[in-house]
Amino acid sequence: MAQAIGVDIGGTGIKAGIVNLDHGTLDSERVRIPTPLGARPADVLNTVREVLEVLGVAESRLPLGVAFPAIVKRGRTLSAANIAKEWIGFEAEKFFEDGLGRHISFVNDADAAGVAEARHGAARDARGLTVMTTLGTGIGSAFLYDGMLIPNTELGHLKHEGESIERWTAYSAMEREQLSWEDWSARLQVFYSHVEFLFSPDLFVVGGGVSKHPEKFLPLLELNTPIVAAVHRNSSGIIGAASLASD
Ligand code: BGC
Repeated sequence: MAQAIGVDIGGTGIKAGIVNLDHGTLDSERVRIPTPLGARPADVLNTVREVLEVLGVAESRLPLGVAFPAIVKRGRTLSAANIAKEWIGFEAEKFFEDGLGRHISFVNDADAAGVAEARHGAARDARGLTVMTTLGTGIGSAFLYDGMLIPNTELGHLKHEGESIERWTAYSAMEREQLSWEDWSARLQVFYSHVEFLFSPDLFVVGGGVSKHPEKFLPLLELNTPIVAAVHRNSSGIIGAASLASD
């Protein structure tokens, strides 16, 4: 049975698990440790070490995939919305490889989640354009065309009143402003209608922490495109990172 390890670094939590690559499911518990305040490189690296230790895989030679909440191009992180600004233009993949003493595969978090859903979840066998969005601390996005990832789309940074729309529409905005599901859904409606008009997708998949409660908000959205919750919910990033690491 083929296995790999996935680590999903988020703005709020760093999560990891051992992934069964045949089924795209977790073969272990899902370990989660809060992201250190400020999310600076050295602190994030230490927390990644810690999750791997808790998971019992610190010395494992299984393929390791790491998903990260920023634009990732040739191993470098090029943006920093909910993490320390030091990550901008940083050789992050090499930093983690040196710090962990092993090879890793390094990818944007929403792209990892999209790959998991395309290979093993809600977008399996989906034709045309699937737009995966993760609603968490920020909003992440992944475009998959006939299952093929088009990396580094950043729909959370579409502008709304001069700011990145994720500030207004991510799940963290609902928590911060104590919005009702109805009020939050009205904001999501603005976001998804705009994306629908711009890209004419064939399917929307919604992941992130809030995908545990799809019945609370998906029925409130009026779109022409089918919109479904991620099958792997909050584990999509872990599963996709592991899956990409084994390619
Ligand atoms: C980042 C994205 C990331 C998303 C979800 C955004 O602020 O710019 O790269 O995918 O948050 O973590």
